[in-house]
Amino acid sequence: MAGQKKEPAFLLGEKPVLLQGAMELEIAVLREALTDCRSFQYGAFPFWEGKLGDRPVVLSRTGIGTAAAAAATALGCTMFQPALVLNQGTAGGYPEGVRPFDLVIGERWYNSNALFQSRYGQDYFLDLEALEGESKESGFTGEKPFWHWTDREVLAWLDREGVHWHRGRALVGAIASGDRWNDCPDTIQQLEQATGALCEEMETAAAGETAGRFGIPFGAVRVISNNNRTGEPFDPETARALQEWIVRAVQSAERD
Ligand code: 5AD
Repeated sequence: MAGQKKEPAFLLGEKPVLLQGAMELEIAVLREALTDCRSFQYGAFPFWEGKLGDRPVVLSRTGIGTAAAAAATALGCTMFQPALVLNQGTAGGYPEGVRPFDLVIGERWYNSNALFQSRYGQDYFLDLEALEGESKESGFTGEKPFWHWTDREVLAWLDREGVHWHRGRALVGAIASGDRWNDCPDTIQQLEQATGALCEEMETAAAGETAGRFGIPFGAVRVISNNNRTGEPFDPETARALQEWIVRAVQSAERD
C-alpha cells in the first residue's frame, strides 16, 4: 500500500547494492538474474553491474578468505559507491541442529583470526580496533569474542524477507568469520560454547570491517551448506537456493 513501504532507503535510491559471493557457485545464479549487465575486472576481482528488477546492483566475486574479501570490498566501495554491501554465501553449522538449508541472517560477527596468546600460554580473543589505539593488554584482549554488528536496517529487512525462505529455518544470529575450516567435532562444539556462533565462514568479518571503514552499511546472510560436527557434507544446492532468495529480496523493493 502506498505510504506503507517497508523497504529501507538503501534499496530505494540511485546507488547500487553491492552483492558479494566468494566462489563462482555462490554468484552464478545472481549473475544469471542480472539484466543490462556490464562486466569489469580489476586484477583478479570481477564485478558485474546490472539490475535486479528496477534495482541497480553490482555483483562481486570476491574470492575465498579474508584477504581477498577485504580487497574486493575496498575495490567495490571505491569504484561503485554502493548504498549497501551485502555479503552472502555458504557456511558450516556449529550447533548440531543447524543443518544444511538453514539460513543464518547475520546479526553480528567476530573475527576468528584475531587471537592473542598471553605470555603464560593462555589464549584470548583480540580486539584489533582497540589495538589500533595502542591501549594496554587488558584493553584489547578478552575471554569473549569482540562482536561487530551488522546494520540494523539491513538486518530488519533480511529478517522480514526470512518468511519467504522455505528450504529450511531462517535464524538470526552470530557468525564466526576467519581463515579457518574446522572439521573436528570437538573443536566446533568448544567454539559454539565459547562464542554462541551459529556458523563459520571466511569473508563476513573482512567485508564488514572494510565496508565499515568506508562508512557503508553492511549486511551478511549465510546458508548452511555443511555441518562438520554432525558430518553433513557440503551441498552446493544450498548456495543456489540462497541466491534465488536474494534475487527475490532485492526485487521486493519495488513491491508493496
Ligand atoms: N568453514 C569455513 N568456511 C566455510 N564455507 C562453507 N562452509 C564452511 C566451513 N565449514 C565457505 C567460506 C569460504 C568457502 C570455503 O566456503 O566462506 O568462502
